[in-house]
Amino acid sequence: TTDGVPQDLSIQTLHALDKASGPILSAEAFPKSTFTEIKAALDRLASREMVTYETQERDEYLLEPEGEQIATNGSHEARVFEALRQAVEGLTVQEIEKAIGDKTVSKLGQSKAFKEKWISRTKDGKFKAATDSIKDVTLEQVQTVKATRTHPDPKILAELKKRKLVRVQKIISFKISKGPKFALEIAKEETDLTADMIASGAWKTATFKPYNFKALGADQNSGALHPLNKVRSEFRQIFFEMGFEEMPTNKFVESGFWNFDALFVPQQHPARDLQDTFYISDPLIAGKPGESSSGEEKKSYEEYWENVRQVHENGKFGSIGYRYPWAAEESLRLVLRTHTTSISTAMLHKLASKKGPDGRPPPARYFSIDRVFRNETVDATHLAEFHQVEGVIADYNLTLGGLMEFMDIFFGKMGITDLRYKPAYNPYTEPSLEIFSYHKGLGKLVEIGNSGMFRPEMLQSMGLPADMRVYGWGLSLERPTMIKYGISNIRELLGHKVDLNFIQRNPAVRLDKD
Ligand code: PHE
Repeated sequence: TTDGVPQDLSIQTLHALDKASGPILSAEAFPKSTFTEIKAALDRLASREMVTYETQERDEYLLEPEGEQIATNGSHEARVFEALRQAVEGLTVQEIEKAIGDKTVSKLGQSKAFKEKWISRTKDGKFKAATDSIKDVTLEQVQTVKATRTHPDPKILAELKKRKLVRVQKIISFKISKGPKFALEIAKEETDLTADMIASGAWKTATFKPYNFKALGADQNSGALHPLNKVRSEFRQIFFEMGFEEMPTNKFVESGFWNFDALFVPQQHPARDLQDTFYISDPLIAGKPGESSSGEEKKSYEEYWENVRQVHENGKFGSIGYRYPWAAEESLRLVLRTHTTSISTAMLHKLASKKGPDGRPPPARYFSIDRVFRNETVDATHLAEFHQVEGVIADYNLTLGGLMEFMDIFFGKMGITDLRYKPAYNPYTEPSLEIFSYHKGLGKLVEIGNSGMFRPEMLQSMGLPADMRVYGWGLSLERPTMIKYGISNIRELLGHKVDLNFIQRNPAVRLDKD
């Protein structure tokens, strides 16, 4: 064989066509070959334009065992009639049965023959023939089907089928005709144009194998990006396009200071409870911020720490504070970060010591996409860890309207439009806005993000100028990923239950951009 096709079936086809005066039918020419074998042989010839073919479908009727029996012995009623025709005195039911040698045939035959008025009862309760001869129509019909695999009268076919004497079978056959390049031999096809062929001139007469543009490429069995990573790269692209710089988020453990205190989250806040936050047991506490720095930098961290303490205890920078005794130990406890806003905070603190052309901290745009941890009850939509997409914009004279406009542009780049805003609360932003969008599939508004303008007492504690404003927002990476990939249970996306085939098979995703 060549191309996995039985060579001789292609050759046989050519010879059969050569002998025939017109098109041939595969079902007649190759009754023993399978559909797939024939199709492969024909495709091989058709790709070389040696033949053309079309598919024909028809019903074929085959005899059931009972039909076969009738075809050889006659119909049941005819057999009963025949038995009675020979017995002048008539026969009892038992005698008919004995003469025929089959109980069912004799029983069915009697009632049918009676209906046809071929037989009648005698005075003493026996059966006798009621006519000299009969015409066994059923036998004729069954024999026609046996010989031709069909019957000219569709009503008869339906009737025979109902009587379970025949069954239908769909037959797919190919009507094959000679093609423009018909020949009795299949020319050897070259797969490569070689230097030798050019030198010898053999290329002029050679037949080249046509390209198969429909062939699938070989499976490379390469690594595959996780859907979260694919959506993540789309988000990163949007951020870069809008002039953002990526923040270094390569640490999962933070001190309470960066995760909470610097964000003006009071030490008694419920978010800091064991039920909501994972605390590290070993080591239990961190060093003070800037502990390993020196000079100016160390001084700036010490000032920052002191400002945060004062803001919480008594208030500062126009804030009246929370007015409770602030505990340094609480601020040094180590936690698995509950949001990446801890990183934004550290970045903004660094920004405070940068000098732009006017000697003041320059405007900045930062983003990050990384993992955060919350002590949540795990269910279909919640895990104890997820990924947060976070952004901050620091600039002078920013307004709340600007934040809303920015959100319209940012989400618009992912195809999310018509945003709705709802006043919300975060300890570190004022005002705070929850961002909603209408979800067509769910038919309702769904929350897609949390945002706000960082509080002055938070920013000025870092040393940022009083007229510098900072927008901040956060959203989960899992939610848009689940929507894009049609996943309803988060455990199919993240964790030990993830199916590796699912990761490999999934295509890249593009956020719909108009
Ligand atoms: N940290 C917030 C959250 O976890 C998101 C946010 C970041 C909100 C910055 C406002 C400002 O949802």
